[in-house]
Amino acid sequence: MGNPKHIAIIMDGNGRWAQARGHHRIFGHVRGATVARGIIEHCAQLGIENLTLFTFSTENWRRPDEEVSVLMSLLARRLKRETATLIKNNIRFHTIGDLSRLPKPVLERVGKTIQETSHCTGMNLTFALSYGGRQEIAQAAQLLAQKVAQGEIDPHDIDESLFSKSLESSYLPDPDLIIRTSGENRLSNFFLWQAAYSEFYVADCCWPDFSSDQLDQALVAYRRRQRRFGKTSAQILTSQSSDLL
Ligand code: IPE
Ligand code: IPE
Ligand code: MG
Repeated sequence: MGNPKHIAIIMDGNGRWAQARGHHRIFGHVRGATVARGIIEHCAQLGIENLTLFTFSTENWRRPDEEVSVLMSLLARRLKRETATLIKNNIRFHTIGDLSRLPKPVLERVGKTIQETSHCTGMNLTFALSYGGRQEIAQAAQLLAQKVAQGEIDPHDIDESLFSKSLESSYLPDPDLIIRTSGENRLSNFFLWQAAYSEFYVADCCWPDFSSDQLDQALVAYRRRQRRFGKTSAQILTSQSSDLL
């Protein structure tokens, strides 16, 4: 199996990483942002077509105001600093999630980076920002219901393919590989629809300790797996050998 077309990462464990070292949680977020920068560059160099980083969940708005506000300003600062590097690496920046909840200066910065990288044709980098999988699904349901109400489609037209096309993330293929750091085995409302057949890889280290080497290890583990999509192992082996002919 070759490289995944879409890698999605749940960057978890910043707070615990900092607290274990006697620092405030915020210190972990700052280090985490630097690690994200390195992983983005590494994925672009590997030729990964799509990378999605779970940056801030719908539920993360429930955190203490101080933490939320530092996370937001960190995001804006780093995007401002790194936009030129994204362009240099031909990386196109996107977001999925409810941006209407972002503070205005952060929203403006996000919009600028989206716009300034819109001509880039290399890797698609998506920040899932103020994002929740259930919210994305509910939004798609609303969109389809509106189309039915306006007579544009019939309820029977709604199938998996049309539903996928109605999601905000419809420009992305489903993630082949979802990596989560910090040893937690859950999706935390990330890509609920899209993860149906994603390979899941959990790294025990916290996000600030995640490195390019660890990403490479995840890729090695991914390539060793057999993705069966409901079929038998024998069927997969037969189709692989006929592909070689
Ligand atoms: C991930 O690290 C960053 C965000 C969710 C914004 P956490 O902040 O969740 O760190 P832990 O999991 O509490 O250690
Ligand atoms: C998931 O991490 C969200 C992001 C990494 C942005 P959380 O730390 O919010 O997840 P839970 O609360 O431990 O499930
Ligand atoms: Mg966490």
